[in-house]
Amino acid sequence: MKIKVGLVGCGVVGTGVVELLLKNKEVIRKKTGIELVLSKVADKDWSRQRAFDVPQELRTVNYEEVLEESHVVVELVGGKGFAKELIEEALKKGKHVVTANKHLLAEEGRAIFQSAQERGLCVGFEASVGGGIPIIKAVRESLVGNNIRAVYGILNGTTNYVLTRMLEEGVSLQDALKEAKEKGYAEADPSLDIDGWDSAHKIAILSFMAFGGFFPFSGVYVEGIRHVDLLDVELGRELGYALKLLSIAKKREEELEVRVHPTFLPEEDPLAKVSDVFNAIMVEGDFVGKVMLYGRGAGAYPTASAVVSDLIDVSRRIISGTPCKESINWEDKSYSLSDNFYSRYYMRFDVPDKPGVLASISRVLADYHISIASVLQKEKVCKLAGREGEHVVPLVILTHKAYERNMRKALEEIQNLPVVIGSPVLIRVEEEAE
Ligand code: HSE
Repeated sequence: MKIKVGLVGCGVVGTGVVELLLKNKEVIRKKTGIELVLSKVADKDWSRQRAFDVPQELRTVNYEEVLEESHVVVELVGGKGFAKELIEEALKKGKHVVTANKHLLAEEGRAIFQSAQERGLCVGFEASVGGGIPIIKAVRESLVGNNIRAVYGILNGTTNYVLTRMLEEGVSLQDALKEAKEKGYAEADPSLDIDGWDSAHKIAILSFMAFGGFFPFSGVYVEGIRHVDLLDVELGRELGYALKLLSIAKKREEELEVRVHPTFLPEEDPLAKVSDVFNAIMVEGDFVGKVMLYGRGAGAYPTASAVVSDLIDVSRRIISGTPCKESINWEDKSYSLSDNFYSRYYMRFDVPDKPGVLASISRVLADYHISIASVLQKEKVCKLAGREGEHVVPLVILTHKAYERNMRKALEEIQNLPVVIGSPVLIRVEEEAE
């Protein structure tokens, strides 16, 4: 059976989808019996250089042609403006939609899924999280028998690439980001990557799926890697940790903890070994235990692979005449988001190397019931960090598990101590130890 597929937005990923559909048409037909026929591809600018030559007869600048000539519309425009209007219009016209738009789904997905559900139409979004990793399908289908307790992992290829280059080669954040852009990993606006928003969008979508409920995106705690200092990456490594931008969602009764921030992981943790543009996601279910999925989380080909997986799912629905019943149950529950995390912490203070400094800092920590696990002070590290002044040293304190609210108050007090120079650094540490 032939299914007509139209595509709007022919950037890096869109071009990858065109290439896959044209090159692997026969492979897909043999495996599924479905012929995915590319009807039209809309983009506003056909003068741009592309990695694959989109046939002239498929090109249009008019997205309405795509809507007219397709059973399924693939939205790869991105963002919340035109993309939202396009999806709404496609659904109104009775077209199924496949999208990679995590930004839109995380922030405004509820209305989109409701509109699709009312019409029995599908919105496929495998490509929105984890690039080529089939995480949406895994949570929706393979792990459906479980109460999911937690979902966490590395969900942004660009920042993982940047942190890996910093850790392994001592490359600066700016240079590593430039490389990531050249390789086509970064978002059109790379601050979405660097400031943690792309990861936050993805963990929000996974949380909706895994926990079957809704929460306002504005409640997600988000901290990116923009201010990560190479010194902390190196000091962390000396303590046996790898720095990763981790996305975490955990369920505690009616409360969810959804957060994104730079995180130290013990170097033996499987997530610590995930490097470059790779993503990995850990899902913890009450029956299955821990499941980890790993693969390329960004780039044209992996994302195109995920888009085509959705296209086949949607096609099967069209052929069998089964209306789509989205497994995100938006009516089910509203979670409140907790901002009272409980973890270990790495702190760095720049201090003068003189008597009483450590005592004054540890006094404040004791006042807030924060227990010190280890302390590291490197006399010669000034040179490593390229800092001036012989007598200023970085003092690193690693704590046992403590409540975030206590840690914040303690940090504020410590920051105001006369011995502390500049702003302290606080990085959360995820590990089993107390
Ligand atoms: N900018 C994203 C990333 C692309 O780096 O992971 C895939 O969503």
